[in-house]
Amino acid sequence: MVVELSAVKSVSPWQTHSVRIVSVKAEIPGVMTYRLKFVDQAVGNSFTVEPGQFNMLYLPGYGESAISVSGYDPENNELLHTVRAAGNVTRALSRLVVGDELGLRGPFGQGWPMETARDGHLVLIAGGLGFAPICSAIETAVQQSSRYRRISILAGARSPDQLLYGQQYNLWKAAGAELRLTVDRATSQWSGNVGVVPLLVNRIEISDPATTTVMMCGPEMMMWYTAKAATERNIPAENIWLSMERNMNCAIGHCGHCQFGPAFICKDGPVLRYDKIASYLKIKGL
Ligand SMILES: Cc1cc2nc3c(=O)[nH]c(=O)nc-3n(C[C@H](O)[C@H](O)[C@H](O)COP(=O)(O)OP(=O)(O)OC[C@H]3O[C@@H](n4cnc5c(N)ncnc54)[C@H](O)[C@@H]3O)c2cc1C
Ligand code: FES
Repeated sequence: MVVELSAVKSVSPWQTHSVRIVSVKAEIPGVMTYRLKFVDQAVGNSFTVEPGQFNMLYLPGYGESAISVSGYDPENNELLHTVRAAGNVTRALSRLVVGDELGLRGPFGQGWPMETARDGHLVLIAGGLGFAPICSAIETAVQQSSRYRRISILAGARSPDQLLYGQQYNLWKAAGAELRLTVDRATSQWSGNVGVVPLLVNRIEISDPATTTVMMCGPEMMMWYTAKAATERNIPAENIWLSMERNMNCAIGHCGHCQFGPAFICKDGPVLRYDKIASYLKIKGL
């Protein structure tokens, strides 16, 4: 199981390190979680990462893709990455098996403000594959649950078979977290909520909005309406954090590929504060 995520430094942002696939777990159709271990143990020993950061995974002949760290096991120097086979690189990755090697550089970007959220109510919200970066925050929070007054996890997917990390739900609940799930389309076996993720925000108790922190990742439309629902519950905009996605290239703020308003998602994000980006979220195609 995933252990603690802690503070970090990388060697050189351009240097790609070899990692070996230790295990592959089929999560939902087309989405796998890869457990990766550094081939050079010394590199693994010096590698640390914060929840919410991402790595660039490199497959020679195909290219690089930005992939969030969904978990990190510092004892074994193993990283978890949950990947949807979407295009060139990620489809090639889906053909690899245990024992195969690929390249990794990172970690990059600003992660979730776990310390800022301390002592308050932490609300972690995921939509679809946005569960991957949220998962690293959940694992960190439930392992240090005494640091938070309350932990609420809200997640949604199109249908029950699209919900990620089902095997971890009982562990999270056993650690004291509240878990609420919703789907757009129910099946006959589904007894949970039906509807969009923002509706879940209205169902949880928020006793002290000023000390409540919201962290979310999912489709931008979902995040827009969820942030709106949170502010309507009097949670200050500066307590709301979103993980954003844009096409990446250099991952270190040099190429401009990931520009979003004045921010570079790779360097200033991917986790950004809602009040700083709300006006740009409204601009279609930005
Ligand atoms: C910070 C960050 C974290 C990410 N974390 C994950 C993760 O944990 N798991 C995961 O599966 N994916 C994640 N992604 C998305 C992933 O990087 C892209 O899906 C990936 O680049 C696809 O690479 P590819 O070469 O397989 O597809 P490509 O052949 O590059 O692209 C496939 C299609 O997706 C489009 N596309 C590529 N990248 C993006 C993007 N970032 N946003 C919107 N459209 C895009 C392309 O234009 C094309 O239409 C993340 C992206 C970012 C920026
Ligand atoms: S990916 Fe190059 S500036 Fe962000």
